[in-house]
Amino acid sequence: MFNEMRKSLENLLRLFSNKWYIFISQAFVLFFMKYSLYFLNIERSIVEYLMLVSLVFITCELGISKVRFFKLHRSYVFTFYSILTVGMILNSLSYSYFGYPGISIFLPVSLITILMGTTAGISSTYYFSLSSAIILNYSLKYSLFFLFVGSLTVFLTRRINKRIDIARAAIFVSLLQAVLFAINENFFIPISTYTNIVRGFLNPILSSIITIGILPYIEYGSRIYSSIGMLELGNLSHPLLKQLSIKAPGTYYHSVILANLAEAAAEKIEVNPILARVGSYFHDIGKMKKPEFFIENQQLENPHSSLHPSLSHIVLNFHVKAGSELARKYRLPLLIEDIIKQHHGVRIQKFFYHKAKEVNPEVKEEDFRYPGPKPQFKEAGIIMLADSIEAAIRSIKDPTPSKIEEMVTEIVNDIYNERELDESGLTLKDLELIIEEFVRVLVSTYHQRIEYPREETKNNLVTLKESIEDESEHNK
Ligand SMILES: [Fe+2]
Ligand SMILES: [Fe+2]
Repeated sequence: MFNEMRKSLENLLRLFSNKWYIFISQAFVLFFMKYSLYFLNIERSIVEYLMLVSLVFITCELGISKVRFFKLHRSYVFTFYSILTVGMILNSLSYSYFGYPGISIFLPVSLITILMGTTAGISSTYYFSLSSAIILNYSLKYSLFFLFVGSLTVFLTRRINKRIDIARAAIFVSLLQAVLFAINENFFIPISTYTNIVRGFLNPILSSIITIGILPYIEYGSRIYSSIGMLELGNLSHPLLKQLSIKAPGTYYHSVILANLAEAAAEKIEVNPILARVGSYFHDIGKMKKPEFFIENQQLENPHSSLHPSLSHIVLNFHVKAGSELARKYRLPLLIEDIIKQHHGVRIQKFFYHKAKEVNPEVKEEDFRYPGPKPQFKEAGIIMLADSIEAAIRSIKDPTPSKIEEMVTEIVNDIYNERELDESGLTLKDLELIIEEFVRVLVSTYHQRIEYPREETKNNLVTLKESIEDESEHNK
């Protein structure tokens, strides 16, 4: 009996030390709720505090535990709970001044959805709608109201690529709020009714202005990027990409081709194509520190021929380390830094391993591995596959569709059998679809060159030139 009590107390302490941010954030939330709403009643406060903490575990912890990125980076957890806490505090204060039309569920829910996806957005909606009931004296009516408005916010902001999309979503939510207030209010008290309808309508629109304005600050601070921020990074005018195009043009070209492959495959298996594209642009950014050591940038001689294989191994690993350092320095998204570290996984640098083995048969595979870790999410897995395929396709002479398909299947099989994709979440069905998509993109890129022989192209050009001359004659 005593032992069991001690064990449960230990478990409670462990829970508190692991999830301290939940207990502290809810204490803040309750303090501001009390400060702005009620006079202090200790008994009631303790009960409400326990209700809020339980609510977080039921709505948020259950939801976000299913999202992979929350397990990979603490920044996701802290940003999520910071938005949740600040959102609740602002709502408590706003409620005390403007009544329930002052509560904005749009601001926190849209921020969480845009930055962390639909599951996190839905979890925060449940939390806000149920905790709003605590603010509003346990009114189920308002809980349902916020659940409705929050769900619409998640639905409208789940695939935002442009700033204007946020404003558009806010207008729809504003209209919904105004209509719901109008239906709900007592029309015999016109002044308060119309004031509430106007407040309910303006609230999401004003919230959207704050969302748009605050987004870059959250992105910079947390290194969690929305698709809007990600697209800005991927417009090829980023200083790192410009430097890469000058210092390592071969790598730059390789990254652009890779981006097309990875984006198409990500779309096919319904993961984030923007992350796949932008991640590809930056995946080899570390190569610009020593560009001449990588085959795509070599013109005359290969500096590896005069290097000991173990030194070549250090140089190869250096591009991963230098890349992740640059990602931190330029505050690139955490997921892009992950892609830089994971795009070679812990694969063996076979060429240098075999070269070293010729000199010393005792040499171990472990000494010629990339530092890793293995890809931890699907987009990183896709980039690993596309990276090897893009490098290999250039070595095929006269690439026919069957040669391309054979090569793609072989490379995907090799990487799968090396167990590099074990932690990426990619299923066999995903791999099948990825192979199909890679082959489709590569065939459409390379096969055209075979379909149209030089003579025909030349003839087409002559015809084009003639028709331009004819037209200019005609215009005279
Ligand atoms: Fe690389
Ligand atoms: Fe690469």
